[in-house]
Amino acid sequence: MLRRIMSQLAGSSVLITGASSGIGAELARQLVGRGCRVGLLARRRERLAALAEELEGAGGTAAWAVADVADGVATQRALDALAEGLGGADVVVANAGYGEVETPKRFAPGKALALYDVNLRGTLHVIDWALPRFLEAGRGHLVGVASVASYLGLPHFAAYCGSKAAMRIHLQSLRVSLARRGIAVTTICPGFVKSELTDRHQGPMPFLLPTDRAVRRIVRAIEKRQGEVVFPWQMRLVMAIGTCLPASWVEALLRRSA
Ligand SMILES: NC(=O)c1ccc[n+]([C@@H]2O[C@H](COP(=O)([O-])OP(=O)(O)OC[C@H]3O[C@@H](n4cnc5c(N)ncnc54)[C@H](OP(=O)(O)O)[C@@H]3O)[C@@H](O)[C@H]2O)c1
Repeated sequence: MLRRIMSQLAGSSVLITGASSGIGAELARQLVGRGCRVGLLARRRERLAALAEELEGAGGTAAWAVADVADGVATQRALDALAEGLGGADVVVANAGYGEVETPKRFAPGKALALYDVNLRGTLHVIDWALPRFLEAGRGHLVGVASVASYLGLPHFAAYCGSKAAMRIHLQSLRVSLARRGIAVTTICPGFVKSELTDRHQGPMPFLLPTDRAVRRIVRAIEKRQGEVVFPWQMRLVMAIGTCLPASWVEALLRRSA
């Protein structure tokens, strides 16, 4: 049973990539609970169909479409189908992504490029679809799920940190460029959140957040059209310190943890 909560987002149509599990699926649930119509995009058809059925069963409106976000044509087609099914797109959330440990032993040529194809190019495919529509309408809200890992080059996560850093800076530039055009751009930088991604992670996960709590924070950021949101506060503090200390000190610490 979904909780019904009053929200200024009620009546909005929200398209979410990476909606078949974790943060994306929970975001769809919480947004339906706030009266939004949701469009679900990912690769796992059966997961999307089951989630859409669950949301419709709870009285919500959900459409779903299968695409690999690394494939620009397929992504644009899927977003077209979702927007058509829901009668438009007020908010578009680029959430699809993954992370992989890259120790020297596990290094394989092409792995980093494949990750950038999903995390970065996948986000750009979504932006390419959304921006012309938002600009024409003179309104819209673009949301990207980056990571606190976008602030530092953490050991054994070069491609993940690099792709999320590029995403965060790209979105920041769009935010300041589009502010006067009625288009909001929100960058979400979570720390560790319980999901299939963190279920696969074998290292320590300080300040791990339950999915529903993390997603409530994301929903609040969307409702308030916030700019860049970094949570939990402990991670925000760590990254703030890490980015203002001399790089040689930070790297000495990171070398030890590697
Ligand atoms: N969990 C964390 O601690 C954490 C922290 C910071 C940032 N994030 C970011 O949050 C986002 C969601 O991750 P999550 O934690 O919720 O993990 P998750 O449960 O593994 O969800 C990832 C989602 O992305 C989709 N996806 C992955 N590759 C895709 C592709 N090529 N094309 C289309 N969809 C794809 C997956 O669906 P299919 O497999 O069905 O395609 C799934 O729905 C990611 O961008 C991640 O980097 C997570």
